[in-house]
Amino acid sequence: MDIHHTDLENSLKEDLQNCNNEHDLLQIKSKYLGKKGLLTSLFASIKNLGINERKRFGIELNNVKNILSKLLASKLESLKAADNTTNKIDLDVPPRHHNNGSHHPISLVIRKIENIFLKYGFDIQDGPEIETEHYNFESLNILENHPARDMHDTFYLNNKLLLRTHTSSVQIHAMENSTAPFRVLAPGRVYRCDSDPTHSPMFHQIEGLCVDTDITFSNLKWILNNFIREFFESKSIKTRFRPSYFPFTEPSAEMDIMFNNKWLEVLGCGMVHPNVLKNVNIDPKKYSGFAFGLGIERFAMLAYQIKDLRVFFENDINFLEQFKHIR
Ligand code: DAH
Repeated sequence: MDIHHTDLENSLKEDLQNCNNEHDLLQIKSKYLGKKGLLTSLFASIKNLGINERKRFGIELNNVKNILSKLLASKLESLKAADNTTNKIDLDVPPRHHNNGSHHPISLVIRKIENIFLKYGFDIQDGPEIETEHYNFESLNILENHPARDMHDTFYLNNKLLLRTHTSSVQIHAMENSTAPFRVLAPGRVYRCDSDPTHSPMFHQIEGLCVDTDITFSNLKWILNNFIREFFESKSIKTRFRPSYFPFTEPSAEMDIMFNNKWLEVLGCGMVHPNVLKNVNIDPKKYSGFAFGLGIERFAMLAYQIKDLRVFFENDINFLEQFKHIR
């Protein structure tokens, strides 16, 4: 028994010539190679042959099968190539619009201040928002009867825990967790039981602490003056230091800046009180330091000319989108 493989080949070629999509190609493939295909039935007939014939016929059939498979495969490739040229990527289509978010002004101000103090060798530190009276008050030399401990200012969670009322508590963690000298900047959320157009029950502060062997008040003034000039991008901005009182600094001062011809208070500062150093086992005869604390919302309001504090927390997309261009 012989197969007319050239017949099969020619007949397949003809079928392929009339075929112009992958669906038809599959049908043609099964006409020849499928379960009930022409070639398959020839394979099935092997068993009817004599033992000598079988081998020769089998080899021949396999050859035919290879030829047909190659024809089918190359047709598939050419169909695919044609398909790619018709569906090719159109480089002229305008890109889809991505609605990028913007950084929140509070984050922008935090980052700007961090970048300034990083240059002065400060490390950025985090501290817990839930505190004990020990960290929020006692170790900062704020004694039992101090007005800041009044229930009206502090959110107590129970009779042991409270929400920190200032980032000054991070001073204590920083000094406990490492050894002098320290240069630490601690931004974060703080909480006070107060809410009106100029006060939010949650707001943000940045605390600064620098402790070393020869730190003086002039170091404090130099660093804060330079910080203010860099933050407001003005070399001529006027500043002044007014005597003030904080239990954890001695002497204490408030820093004002001249803004639109008016003095504006922008931060509290002072030399770290010897009691605070003693509370974390640092010898105040050997080490001295300065500290400062500022309200981030106040700086953001000045930097971006924002009049109402509440806009920071309303998540109004029209407000937030104005900060898109600032990276
Ligand atoms: N903790 C003070 C407050 O919340 C701010 C402050 C004042 C921090 C003086 C300081 C400082 O480190 O030296 O009002």
